[in-house]
Amino acid sequence: MIESTDPLLRVRNLRTSFDTDRGVVSAVDGISFDIKPGEVYGVVGESGSGKSVTALSIMGLIDSPGVVEADAIEFRGEDISGYSDAEMRDIRGGNISMVFQDPMNSLNPVMTVGEQIAEVVRHHTPVGESAGFWRELSRKYVTGTDKESDSWQRAVELLDTVGIPDPKERATEYPHQLSGGMRQRVVIAQALAGDPDLIIADEPTTALDVSVEAQILNELLELADEFDVSVLLITHDLAVIRETCDRVAVMYAGELMETSNVQELFNNPQHPYTRGLLQSIPRITDDREWLDVIEGNVPDLINKPEGCPFQQRCNYSFDMCDKPLERHRVSDDHIARCHLHSPEVDTAAHDFDTEATGDRSITSGDSGIIADGNGGDDL
Ligand SMILES: Nc1ncnc2c1ncn2[C@@H]1O[C@H](COP(=O)(O)OP(=O)(O)OP(=O)(O)O)[C@@H](O)[C@H]1O
Ligand SMILES: [Mg+2]
Repeated sequence: MIESTDPLLRVRNLRTSFDTDRGVVSAVDGISFDIKPGEVYGVVGESGSGKSVTALSIMGLIDSPGVVEADAIEFRGEDISGYSDAEMRDIRGGNISMVFQDPMNSLNPVMTVGEQIAEVVRHHTPVGESAGFWRELSRKYVTGTDKESDSWQRAVELLDTVGIPDPKERATEYPHQLSGGMRQRVVIAQALAGDPDLIIADEPTTALDVSVEAQILNELLELADEFDVSVLLITHDLAVIRETCDRVAVMYAGELMETSNVQELFNNPQHPYTRGLLQSIPRITDDREWLDVIEGNVPDLINKPEGCPFQQRCNYSFDMCDKPLERHRVSDDHIARCHLHSPEVDTAAHDFDTEATGDRSITSGDSGIIADGNGGDDL
């Protein structure tokens, strides 16, 4: 049993690269973070910033020619970075399960959805009905799971839990017979079937209609709460992060630029990139004709600049920005990687207002860059 204060997942200096014809792509470039038990942890960043590669690296799903290195990827205190494929298969779907963007990629088109969930249930039940490989194979392709069995009953129950009407009937259907929203619910049921401690959800609702998007995301998070599961939620949408997460990491060009509890990140962002992202969120009260998008593009991950990867697009860049970045603690739970926060730098002289966020002012503490969130979440 881990203490509630110990991280559930601890990632240190994760680096994932791909050897391509053009050169070596540093997709994830030395990131570290912790996820605590019961926490919803958001990772946000523009397209190509390395969010999916981070998730796949943790899950042991990066194929050759990708190379994953890390000082540690610890799950419940145990380093899983050196696990074999077989050991990782046991972790996946059991201790850690994944929900991907497109449910059709996670579901087997030629198996009924009940069958797919029942299979996960059996695989993760210590003394199960599974009875080995050949029995499973015959269930899968010949007999189907006995509808009276515990695993089938549990599959139906899970379909009901994720809000599928008429679950007994639906369990016998194939993925193509269900709507996109229903399919993603099935994937969530499958993710819960192994009784996981952590669900990694990579843009779980982006492939869905906007009308069901919020609904499914809310359901996922309510279920995570009910089942006491932590969630690593990957999204490019800061508004989603604000609504749903406890803590957040802002990712850019394979690196984490700022990590913080959510309230503080919105009230008191301390990285110019985070401020840029925040200003590009549409607001209901918006009278701007254009959103303030950050100009320029993500740097080439093959020839990343020395120092801060954001320097070419940053309005505040100065002569230190090509030096290696360090982590600067803004408060207990808030770290920014930006030279503006180096002790030797006079931040105010760079016109970087550590107490204001763009056009919104915030209430801050009284000591330089160490400022407390004001407890509100008005954006
Ligand atoms: N197999 C691969 N070979 C080479 N480069 C790859 C491979 N997989 C990912 N990359 C590169 O790694 C970088 C990070 O990709 P990743 O898919 O993690 O981005 P992302 O943040 O998830 O973006 P999105 O929001 O679009 O999903 C990209 O530049 C991508 O082109
Ligand atoms: Mg992605």
